[in-house]
Amino acid sequence: MQQQTDKTQNFCRYFAEYPIIQCADSSFSLYNTHYQQGYHSKSLGAYNETLYKHIVPVMLFQESLHSHSLHDFPSKLVALMKNPQSFNHHDNLSNLLRDLPRFRPLRILDICFGLGFNAFMTLHYFVDCEIYSPEKNNLLKTLRSFPYPAEFASKARDILENLDTNGVYQDNNQILYFLHGDALEFLQTFPKGFFDVVFQDAFSQSQNPELWSIHYFEKLFALTANRSIITTYAKAKNILESAQYVGFKAVKHALGSVFFKDYSQ
Ligand SMILES: C[S@@+](CC[C@H](N)C(=O)[O-])C[C@H]1O[C@@H](n2cnc3c(N)ncnc32)[C@H](O)[C@@H]1O
Repeated sequence: MQQQTDKTQNFCRYFAEYPIIQCADSSFSLYNTHYQQGYHSKSLGAYNETLYKHIVPVMLFQESLHSHSLHDFPSKLVALMKNPQSFNHHDNLSNLLRDLPRFRPLRILDICFGLGFNAFMTLHYFVDCEIYSPEKNNLLKTLRSFPYPAEFASKARDILENLDTNGVYQDNNQILYFLHGDALEFLQTFPKGFFDVVFQDAFSQSQNPELWSIHYFEKLFALTANRSIITTYAKAKNILESAQYVGFKAVKHALGSVFFKDYSQ
């Protein structure tokens, strides 16, 4: 408890009941006093963390799928993550993705919605997607005035309003479902092999153990498609081992890990 008091003394502004954090990349995040953990890494930043730990690995994976080989995906990912800023300069995969033929939208499980960064940035880059975001702590009303990065701030307010009113946001070939409640219960409701992507972005395993257990990874394995990817900030040995134990290939990189499947049919 003493530790929490000391930590929160460093914050001078609050958003709703949570201290607000200005990150190194000048984006903002929050410190969750219940979980005693920030929603994002302060040193990398909410914006950069979302882009480099989740969006970019998925883009690279999709691009590798498009070129019909996941063989060199791990080495490409490890090289890119040593200098992820280089991504914007010479690997404009987002343009390429717009032209990729897809027989259906990319299905994404977003564990969990939190402040919505992963969901909003996905809607910014992936024109054809279905996002399912469980979240037990509904902050939708207050988040409408959250200082999001300029790139998606006004869109975020529109999305949050729709989610708060209807539980869903839809625009052309994009759909985002806010699933209010326990993620584990929602997982029971999806068919096998449903998801192409999972953003594994729960709080840490010490604070949020139900979303890092072997049993949980078994569920993810059942719910993901034959060629699918899980992105995460986590790098702990036991987490990589759990993912491998249930059948995923695991790749640790400079900023986190990815777990993926590569079965042809
Ligand atoms: C690190 S934050 C997610 C940040 C989010 N991905 C973003 O982009 O802003 C983790 C979130 O998981 C939620 N959470 C933790 N355990 C949960 C559970 N069992 N079911 C649903 N939500 C849960 C917390 O309330 C918190 O909002």
